[in-house]
Amino acid sequence: MLISPIHHTFAPHVNIHYIMRAFLILLAPWKWRSGNSLKLLSQELEQRLNADAYLFASGREALCALLRTLELRNGEEVIVQGYTCVAVSNAIHTAGGVPIYADIDRETLNMTVESVDEMITQRTKAIICQHTFGIPSPTKELKELCTKKNLLLIEDCAHIIPDKDGPEQIGKHGDFIFYSFGRDKAVSGITGGALFSRKSDVSLKLNEEYKHTTTLSYFIILRYLTYPFVYAIAKPFYGLFIGKAFLYLLKKIKWMVPVLTKQEKEGHQSPIAHQLPNALAFLIIGQFKRLNIINDHRRKLTKFYLEEGKKHNWPVPDGIKSDMPLQKFPLFVRNAGDIRAQLKKKNIHLDDGWTGCVVCPSTIYLDPTNYVPGSDPEAESACEQILSLPTHPTMSMKQAKEMSRQLNRLL
Ligand SMILES: Cc1ncc(COP(=O)(O)O)c(C=O)c1O
Repeated sequence: MLISPIHHTFAPHVNIHYIMRAFLILLAPWKWRSGNSLKLLSQELEQRLNADAYLFASGREALCALLRTLELRNGEEVIVQGYTCVAVSNAIHTAGGVPIYADIDRETLNMTVESVDEMITQRTKAIICQHTFGIPSPTKELKELCTKKNLLLIEDCAHIIPDKDGPEQIGKHGDFIFYSFGRDKAVSGITGGALFSRKSDVSLKLNEEYKHTTTLSYFIILRYLTYPFVYAIAKPFYGLFIGKAFLYLLKKIKWMVPVLTKQEKEGHQSPIAHQLPNALAFLIIGQFKRLNIINDHRRKLTKFYLEEGKKHNWPVPDGIKSDMPLQKFPLFVRNAGDIRAQLKKKNIHLDDGWTGCVVCPSTIYLDPTNYVPGSDPEAESACEQILSLPTHPTMSMKQAKEMSRQLNRLL
């Protein structure tokens, strides 16, 4: 059995570069809340996307701030895809809108122009397309549809941030775009989000909305900043009792800030928006400096899994191409749950929260999400059969080979 786990969410970005930066900023508490990094990150992102940028403490807060600015009247609808994150539907609800779910194409895990078109009504205000796991959504076609129907297109780039090698179409067509800098996202600041606006009238309102954001407390920032160190200590020993016990203890005393709160699982997002702390902007800048290296690593693993898939007849979605820097690599198997359970015994943890649910993770309450079971059959069947393989920066090729060997034994 592996002592260090293969895992989707165990500090997937935390390597020596990350630790060094976290250490530097940890020693400078006067820079935690505000400082130069916020300005530098904002400038860099505005240039990259050619849009106005706003930095928040999470992707969900960024999305919610945008939707509030759009002044959704009660009952106005925002189309999202089935197979999405509850943070998206919560943000829509908190902004006063109603999420409507369009089915996906199993081969891309993304909404299609046809599935979206079917869901458009008089009440539709915007469409949020999501590049699931980094597979590009058909944004050009969706933008054409939006133009025809006078709707806004929001690109959810939580799972992918393109670099100089692409994918080119991501972030190109949206009226608005948002990033998440969560722990297991394309780029990570432990938490964080960015919103981009290409509509000057909305940017003016966003400037106003942004003035009402508040700052996270020093105590919460401290808890975030210790996250890389906690996992750097726990990870190598996770296969032994001490690693698990250490993490359990920190969870018990509520030191680790949860990704989803109990209220969020129940469908309630707080309407209070927070600015991104400067300390986390500092970590994110470090990640952007290495974006091409991070994405190349993801491309290398994507290519490796594709080749393994071909060799061993894995049912891989057709939409995956070898030059995609996937956030994770999905394949379909009939007994996905059993396989995950078998692999767990080998310290390979492939449960990433995106299994067995159309609005993820499966531990949320479905009722408040407005998803009606049975309405998106493709999304429902895909999420039952999906098995995702890690491509993150701390997943080594050696680990990928070992995991693939174990997987082939079970398939
Ligand atoms: C597709 C998608 N959109 C939005 C979000 C929200 O991002 P954040 O966790 O930064 O609020 C997430 C993840 O949580 C996500 O997976």
